[in-house]
Amino acid sequence: MISQKTIQEIRDTAKIEDVVGDYVTLKKRGVNLLGLCPFHNEKTPSFTVSPAKNIYKCFGCGESGGAINFIMEHEGMTYPQALRHLAGKYNIEIDETKPSAEAIQERQTMDSLYLINERAQQFFAKQLFETESGKNIGLTYFKERGFNEDTIKKFGLGYAPNGFKTFTDKAVKEGYKLELLQKAGVTSQKGFDFFRDRMMFVIHNLTGKVIGFGGRTLSKDKKSPKYINTPESEIYVKNKSLYGIYFAKTAIRRADECILVEGYTDVISLHQSGIENVVASSGTSLTVGQIGMIKRYTPNMKILYDGDPAGIKAAMRGLDMVLEQDMNVKVVLLPTGEDPDSYLRQLGADAFKQYIADNANDFILFKTNLLLEEAGDDPVKRSQLINDIILTISKVKDPPKREGYIKKCAELLKTDQQGLINAINTLIFKDLQKKQNISNNQENISTPTTQSDNASEPHRVTQNQSNIYQELNDVPQEKNIVRLIAEFGDRIFEGNMTVAVYVLTSIEDVMEEFDNKLCHQIVIETYELIHNQQPVEPQYFLNHNDTRISDLVITLTHEQHEYSPNWENMLEHPLQTQPMPDQNYKRDVKEGVTLFKLIKVCRLCKKNSASFKSAQSEGRVDELLHLMKIQLKLQELREVLSKELGIVVLP
Ligand code: CTP
Ligand code: MN
Repeated sequence: MISQKTIQEIRDTAKIEDVVGDYVTLKKRGVNLLGLCPFHNEKTPSFTVSPAKNIYKCFGCGESGGAINFIMEHEGMTYPQALRHLAGKYNIEIDETKPSAEAIQERQTMDSLYLINERAQQFFAKQLFETESGKNIGLTYFKERGFNEDTIKKFGLGYAPNGFKTFTDKAVKEGYKLELLQKAGVTSQKGFDFFRDRMMFVIHNLTGKVIGFGGRTLSKDKKSPKYINTPESEIYVKNKSLYGIYFAKTAIRRADECILVEGYTDVISLHQSGIENVVASSGTSLTVGQIGMIKRYTPNMKILYDGDPAGIKAAMRGLDMVLEQDMNVKVVLLPTGEDPDSYLRQLGADAFKQYIADNANDFILFKTNLLLEEAGDDPVKRSQLINDIILTISKVKDPPKREGYIKKCAELLKTDQQGLINAINTLIFKDLQKKQNISNNQENISTPTTQSDNASEPHRVTQNQSNIYQELNDVPQEKNIVRLIAEFGDRIFEGNMTVAVYVLTSIEDVMEEFDNKLCHQIVIETYELIHNQQPVEPQYFLNHNDTRISDLVITLTHEQHEYSPNWENMLEHPLQTQPMPDQNYKRDVKEGVTLFKLIKVCRLCKKNSASFKSAQSEGRVDELLHLMKIQLKLQELREVLSKELGIVVLP
């Protein structure tokens, strides 16, 4: 493993303008440099490089990162490969720490599994082109499906012969260990070939390595499934792989859109006709990990559904999760009985492209219409439907976008807009609370008010907005502030302002509103650290001589707070050598601070309004105007903060 010291040296030495400059012509523009983005097609430059921050960012496609990222992206390298590349460029000597025996073992196993898959793929392909049965059965089938030879080769298609151990025997003879063949999933636990008499589809990872197979049978026998797929292994993790992603990634970025289909054949067929930005979920619903892979290239997704209503409904169930990941989702419904492959062949490429362009519907509106049709006049179904839509809309992250949906859906549902807003706000608040609620301590968790979590309760639509604020609870948010300070204190939040400074300056005006004494003390000490120009590091709190403080910080920083799964995917690299991406902790910090402030401002609102009432009843008229002004200010602030959190507030 490359040592942290070397990594740091590479980070410090590699100048972003140099590294990018090797590939992109950059022109000076103010303090930054500007050029044409190498990651997407553009005519006017929107790719900026900031020497001061040592990062690049494209305002067109959103790609951003440092020198190491740039090399990984541009050269399709892994993290260690990119490090070596840069070390070479700058003549940095690489200092490698010796990995543990387990790490070596694990690495070796993974390498062997890749090799075995590679070998099996060659074998199946050779069978397809060079044996009688391969040609008669496999090749004939693929050709009948309209795949040409280039396509067949590009996707590495193959044929698994009908013998019991044809491949396994051969591989063992070549020196592959039986145990590893089994681990890779090409040999069954009993020692037979896993795939027999099947058309073979190859599954690649992001970097193009073979990680598994799907084998299709032609047999009509009900007992043998149409497809069998490689079982999960160290290198084939189903919910983190997407069929076709390796061949599609460049096109996805170019088109700034990813088309999602169901099957292997759909991907290949579309690809062959020039629609290359397409991947398949392989018959299952999308997972967060898979969405993360797509999101790396585009936030826009178009899902092509076979035109069968039952299937559509089932598929739509998983889609709220995609919205939650901040993706824009459109759906295209194909005519009944057609799948993308069959319909494409029927229409031809151009007409098919036109069809998907013309028939792309916004997911939420599509769902609303579909459910409406289904509910008819049934009042119970209608209220269920409203709750379903409310839940879906609440997953949309972008406030203006969400407002748009509320408007349109209120029209479609013929229901009152304010009712929808209130119900959605409640859900968003709950979600935020849940996310930020880091304490497992029951007494600190807000007590639910009248409505329960049961989304099918129709009366939540008439929820009063003021209830939302009452649901907020202070202590978990205070602890969250402490966690943010302890975990990210010294990292940069913006410009040269650290997270600790950002947090403290943001909460200055409500500093006296802490309920939890320990949290308050930690914040005060942080203030002193900054004042004395000392680092705000986790170590400071973890080694604190007040064990209540160290205990609290330990629980807060080690509990439940997870790395974003797509980050892990993005790098295919163990997390411990990699910091979390900027966006993750910055968003976390921003959200935490805003929610904290909102709660405290709500409290001040209440206090002030009480003072106002007592001043009124005691006839202290001279104070009234002053208190009123404060109240207006607080209410204004409350709205600003609510908006920032994405909670819609009607004027
Ligand atoms: N699938 C699977 N196991 C099955 C059936 C389906 O893994 N028993 C997955 C495969 O990835 C398949 C996808 O679901 O590609 C879609 O299924 P289907 O439409 O039945 O298969 P196609 O590949 O489209 O085959 P065909 O068009 O020949 O029916
Ligand atoms: Mn199909």
